[in-house]
Amino acid sequence: MKVLVVGGGGREHALCWKLKRSPSVSEVICAPGNPGIARDARCVAVGAEDIDGLVALAKTEQPGLVVVGPEVPLVAGLANILREEGFAVFGPDKAAANLEGSKSFSKRLMYEAGVPTARFEVHVDLEEAIDTIRSWGAPIVVKASGLAAGKGVIVAQSEKEAIDAVRDMLAGNSFGEAGSQVIIEECLVGEEASCLFIVSGDTVLALDSSQDHKALLDGDKGPNTGGMGAYSPAPCVTNAVADEVLETIARPIIAALKKKGAEFIGTLYAGVMLTDDGPKTLEFNVRFGDPECQPLMSRLKSDLGELLLAAAEKRLDGIELEWEEGSSLCVVVSSDGYPGSFEKGQVIAGLDAVEAAGTTVFHAGTAEKDGTIVNSGGRVLGVTAVADSVKAAQQTVYHALQKLDWPGGFYRKDIGYRAVARETQKD
Ligand code: AMP
Ligand code: GLY
Repeated sequence: MKVLVVGGGGREHALCWKLKRSPSVSEVICAPGNPGIARDARCVAVGAEDIDGLVALAKTEQPGLVVVGPEVPLVAGLANILREEGFAVFGPDKAAANLEGSKSFSKRLMYEAGVPTARFEVHVDLEEAIDTIRSWGAPIVVKASGLAAGKGVIVAQSEKEAIDAVRDMLAGNSFGEAGSQVIIEECLVGEEASCLFIVSGDTVLALDSSQDHKALLDGDKGPNTGGMGAYSPAPCVTNAVADEVLETIARPIIAALKKKGAEFIGTLYAGVMLTDDGPKTLEFNVRFGDPECQPLMSRLKSDLGELLLAAAEKRLDGIELEWEEGSSLCVVVSSDGYPGSFEKGQVIAGLDAVEAAGTTVFHAGTAEKDGTIVNSGGRVLGVTAVADSVKAAQQTVYHALQKLDWPGGFYRKDIGYRAVARETQKD
């Protein structure tokens, strides 16, 4: 089978890497891809948000399956159009993608479906939002309702910080249309985990757990980013927790969507906080997490092409997944300055040596210039290893990263620290 993957980041590199190693897959095409993906797929220069261009590409290439990586084309309705054209598509239609595209829609649906989540209010009026912040007090969470690449959430430690954030969003227009509605939420306390499910109609199949580090700096300090590293499995997600997330969060939200006429085919990503009162939903995404996808694909033993095609064709029921024993861990190398501004076009050397030291380097924001790899985005590389334990995977990745020759690169030095602490406690 020929598979077309839409996207060009680290998540899509991990998907292409795994698809290339799937017995059911004969060829992988990626639009637009990146220089790392080009090792595993034939890259075609059509942007992930160029809906017309992607539909035209599918018509030319006639893939047996289209896998849509990022949320933007899903929210724009790419899957609807491709399905209407008769393609097998892994990725939800527009109505179901709204679960990620609109946090206000998502929170309201959680409320209707009885899915555990933080208390919230949706506001469009600045003064009313400020009244809520004053009456609830800090810490308090402010979110832009629309898509903001993981950056539209402020966990405010003071009322002033929260008020500044809503003012920026509602009056200052700092997130554009995405910030024209804000969600104000109770601040939840606990450990976070990413619980991903392959969904096809009524069938909801859990992937192994994972955990990412959203904050920029060591110790989970600093501003939120798209994710600075991840590992799988997440030791805090015991079998009992995984069952509870499946039964109280994933199944009910899929059923609630269906009641609204929106059938889900694709990846459901539940970001959960493991609170003293049980798992509560922080957010839903409608695609694989980035960087969670990198450690997940590194451990998946099953044929990914067959799995995603089965979901697209609504015959997922009865499928079981196989995983490598042990753990996998991915450290993201970003351009120093991200999530703020940074210089593009810096030469990145030493990548072969990093891989020779036992890792796979998934490319995200890279480009090729005069035969060398340069940075072209905020998150640039996902250096990933599989080993017997999180600690061993962590050691392999950090040891390998010493071979990276890129002075303008930045990475956290403590990815996986919580999981390593749990492992050490157990020993
Ligand atoms: P979201 O995009 O909604 O997942 O939010 C991004 C990050 O902000 C989450 O991964 C959490 O670390 C944090 N966050 C979001 N909502 C809450 C909440 N209600 N309480 C505490 N932290 C939150
Ligand atoms: N790693 C968080 C996300 O993909 O949204």
